[in-house]
Amino acid sequence: MNENLSKLYIPKHVGIIMDGNGRWAKKRGMPRSVGHKYGAENFRKITRYISKTGVKILTLYAFSTENWKRPMEEVNALMKLFYQYLVDSLTDFREDDIKVVFIGDRSAFNPKLVELINETEEVAKDRKGMLLNIAMNYGARDEILRAVKSLCSDVKDNKINIDDITCDDISSRLYTGGEPDPDLIIRTGGENRLSNFMLYQAAYSEFYSTDTLWPDFKADDFDKAIIEFNKRNRRYGGV
Ligand code: FPP
Repeated sequence: MNENLSKLYIPKHVGIIMDGNGRWAKKRGMPRSVGHKYGAENFRKITRYISKTGVKILTLYAFSTENWKRPMEEVNALMKLFYQYLVDSLTDFREDDIKVVFIGDRSAFNPKLVELINETEEVAKDRKGMLLNIAMNYGARDEILRAVKSLCSDVKDNKINIDDITCDDISSRLYTGGEPDPDLIIRTGGENRLSNFMLYQAAYSEFYSTDTLWPDFKADDFDKAIIEFNKRNRRYGGV
């Protein structure tokens, strides 16, 4: 770990919206898919680095429920990359004891990719290092809708009374059920929005946006986000 961080408070849970692959490639006169390839390489490197900083949970937004609207060519290129980089990352993640979990609706993916996703989770299930949530075909509204449906079904089956429903009953039905909410959400690529990422969990997350495009976001950029996070005064609605 970089000595910049040694005296700082390290957030338990960090979320990252990895944006800017397309622009990174365009600036270099290359197709957007090349930007995704460099983005995927960065995904591997930065995950390994973050796992050594003391972060306990890292949630990376790789593909949203809305990303299917992109041209078919780009979606296909992304699916190929997911497959390739998951295979390649397996060794790294084993070496770093990273526990990998996928959040989102995996049923929409090609069966071979679903098989790889299931296998990746299975081989990593007893690891004790950082938990890596990879959000794929993930959308927070869809996640909340699933939680609502699950609660409605429990009410219908008389397992819970409407008046007894708490916020915890909602949180526990999200993909991240049982995990602490993200302390810090980083977005690369310069936009200042959540884009349907962890809308429920982000109620009191600190938001950090950087103009750096995802393929260029390195360990030093992550350290800068942690330094900035340490300057924030989190009040959770109090004074
Ligand atoms: C946003 O950049 C990025 C994505 C939609 C894909 C993110 C995926 C990766 C970084 C690969 C991760 C790999 C694995 C194995 C999980 P954009 O295309 O919206 O860029 P732009 O805003 O410049 O157009």
